[in-house]
Amino acid sequence: MELTGLELKDFRNYEDLSLSFDKGTNIFYGGNAQGKTNILEAIFLGCTSRSHRSVKDKELIRFGAPEGHVKLLLKKNGIDYRIDLHIKKNRSKGIAVNGAALRKMSDLFGIARVIFFSPEDLSLIKNGPAERRRFLDTELCQIDRIYTHDLISYNRVIDQKNKLLKKICEKGKKTEEEAAVLSIYNEQLCKYGASIIEARDRFIRDLSVIVKEKHKELTDGAEDLSMTYEPDVKAKDLEKEILLSAEREERMGAAMTGPHRDDICFKVNGVDLRHFGSQGQQRTGALSLKLSEIALVENATGEKPVLLLDDVLSELDRKRQDMLLSSLTGVQVFITSTGIDDLIERRFRMDRIFFVDKRKVTDSVS
Ligand SMILES: Nc1ncnc2c1ncn2[C@@H]1O[C@H](COP(=O)(O)OP(=O)(O)OP(=O)(O)O)[C@@H](O)[C@H]1O
Ligand SMILES: [Mg+2]
Repeated sequence: MELTGLELKDFRNYEDLSLSFDKGTNIFYGGNAQGKTNILEAIFLGCTSRSHRSVKDKELIRFGAPEGHVKLLLKKNGIDYRIDLHIKKNRSKGIAVNGAALRKMSDLFGIARVIFFSPEDLSLIKNGPAERRRFLDTELCQIDRIYTHDLISYNRVIDQKNKLLKKICEKGKKTEEEAAVLSIYNEQLCKYGASIIEARDRFIRDLSVIVKEKHKELTDGAEDLSMTYEPDVKAKDLEKEILLSAEREERMGAAMTGPHRDDICFKVNGVDLRHFGSQGQQRTGALSLKLSEIALVENATGEKPVLLLDDVLSELDRKRQDMLLSSLTGVQVFITSTGIDDLIERRFRMDRIFFVDKRKVTDSVS
């Protein structure tokens, strides 16, 4: 797959922008707040229908404009695709592929695969479990259509159950009808939850093998990184455990048991990296993880994903920069950076260079 172009109308700080891309390395450089990240965000949006930052659709529309448009052009197996997103203020956005409107966002699944890498990702091991679950979900949703469906359903039921539990908690008792609704929710949570737990278990097993190798490479063999799934409950025990926590849940007014409380454990040479790792070790672990995703997506789908690196290079020391840059061969990559002198000095291959300044993007010859 190769992204060939992008057109923006009233998207973030761009009024009207049209770009064509190289199939290798595309660099966007320029000062702060000029619109570099906004371009990567638009690419990610075109591939996944979501922004990489958790934002409301209407925030994506240029201030003062009534609506926004993103058009992403790509080529895959010799076929040209055009993905059109129409972002509206008070309604959900519309998506069309080659002119045919999609009924569900999830129908976009599988056309374009993309990995977004931002400086925050380097804190994945240092941060709390919610970040690690978000990582799991983002990755799994790209390679597993059933997971996407189960996750959306699970989250919907958890929201409904939490609302009901809160009400019961405030009243201090529940009606027969509420008890019946709770047990329907629990039945659904068991069904979707078990399938989520099993998918996460398989995914982490597969990824952990690749991560171990990558991390060994990044640390010249000094560190053995293990990555294991820490499910809140095992799939086979989910039903039993949800029932066991029923009383506590009603007392606390929230759903306390299930995969919405999962975590991933990282250990280096047997020591828990989340709690005892140095900052450098945690960041290297996170880098190994991100680099492993490329291989994982390729193994799972037979396609290399597109890589979006937002300001990541400046966050890494030289050795880790080299490791990252050298693992990019054969991958289409989009890099943002405030400067390119360093990359030029190191003769890093840059196929297309864009200078981003005051909402204008100049395509310069590399
Ligand atoms: N909906 C919007 N309408 C208009 N402008 C917006 C909108 N959303 C964000 N912006 C503007 O876009 C600019 C930021 O763009 P972006 O995050 O892409 O910058 P950047 O070039 O990546 O900067 P940095 O190097 O600091 O990361 C900000 O000045 C912000 O005010
Ligand atoms: Mg930025």
